[in-house]
Amino acid sequence: MPIARVSSTDPDPDTIARAAELLRGGGLVAFPTETVYGLGANALDEAAVRRIFAAKRRPADNPLIVHVPDADGLDVVAAEVTPLARRLAERWWPGPLTLVLSARPEVPSVTTGGLASVAVRVPDHPVAAALLKRARVPVAAPSANRSGRPSPTTAQHVADDLGDEVDLILDAGPCRVGVESTVVDARGSEPVILREGGVTREDLGLATNGSVRDLAASPGTRFRHYQPDCRVVLAPRGEAPAVAQAERARGAVVAMLASVPAPPGVVEIGVAPDAQTLASGLYDALRAAEDAGVDVLVVEAVSEVGIGRAVMDRLRRAAGTP
Ligand code: TXA
Ligand code: MG
Repeated sequence: MPIARVSSTDPDPDTIARAAELLRGGGLVAFPTETVYGLGANALDEAAVRRIFAAKRRPADNPLIVHVPDADGLDVVAAEVTPLARRLAERWWPGPLTLVLSARPEVPSVTTGGLASVAVRVPDHPVAAALLKRARVPVAAPSANRSGRPSPTTAQHVADDLGDEVDLILDAGPCRVGVESTVVDARGSEPVILREGGVTREDLGLATNGSVRDLAASPGTRFRHYQPDCRVVLAPRGEAPAVAQAERARGAVVAMLASVPAPPGVVEIGVAPDAQTLASGLYDALRAAEDAGVDVLVVEAVSEVGIGRAVMDRLRRAAGTP
């Protein structure tokens, strides 16, 4: 499998150059960001972008996020950069925030899923930064998982889902944030959250005098997502052990991910004392439960504040109860 190990703080220039050349030549390169691993292709190369959709088995009407090295990249893909977008970019980039703006005509409709808008972000990871700088083309990159599966937070997750369909996987170890970027429509005068993520609603409110519009669904939220090959059951706070025991009593092989250790007879997938810890290990835990061969993974709910909102959004989808 084409995996190149790179330092997460000081990536080897030759490896980055090789990855950048692959992107420039229409290839697919999986690379780490602070949120999850992305499956990258030249965003302006229709054939290359089509390969992303094919590798992921992604519905054609689910648009991609275009990654650029810095805020100057906004003008390369966006037709109109609003004052709100400038302000949010200034405050949050590089970082886990994606801005939706009207698209320039050079961005092919395969990248935007046929929409007149484009999603763009500057990731906060030295490997992604080096790659984007060296590639000198905007890079479309969805999460590097098979469509519908939990997102990848390690190179191994990418290899497990996409293996030979990727030309190169840059492996810089696990991702820090663990849930994807917050997607915000920045075409108006106040941010509209399309997907909860690494930049919290509270943070966005602080940057915009409290004005954040309610969630409007992004195209991606229509589809089945984040689901491992076992049932996921959300337990109310404090009740995970009891819910796990009840599932066991019904004859299921059960795993648990909660703020307390698993009771006897239940596979402990992880102990996450707070929402941030849960976020960074969440997708790995979903895949670990699947690897452990259990029937059910019981996950304890967290309060919907801060990063807890993004975590609960992903958990509801994993459980199939959004
Ligand atoms: O953290 C992230 O955002 C990761 C890393 C790799 O950057 N990428 C990621 O991409 O999560 P993906 O494709 O898995 O999710 C992109 C989301 C989808 O829900 C998609 O529908 C939405 O962004 N999106 C993309 N373009 C859009 C647009 N023009 N308008 C509205 N939503 C858009
Ligand atoms: Mg995704």
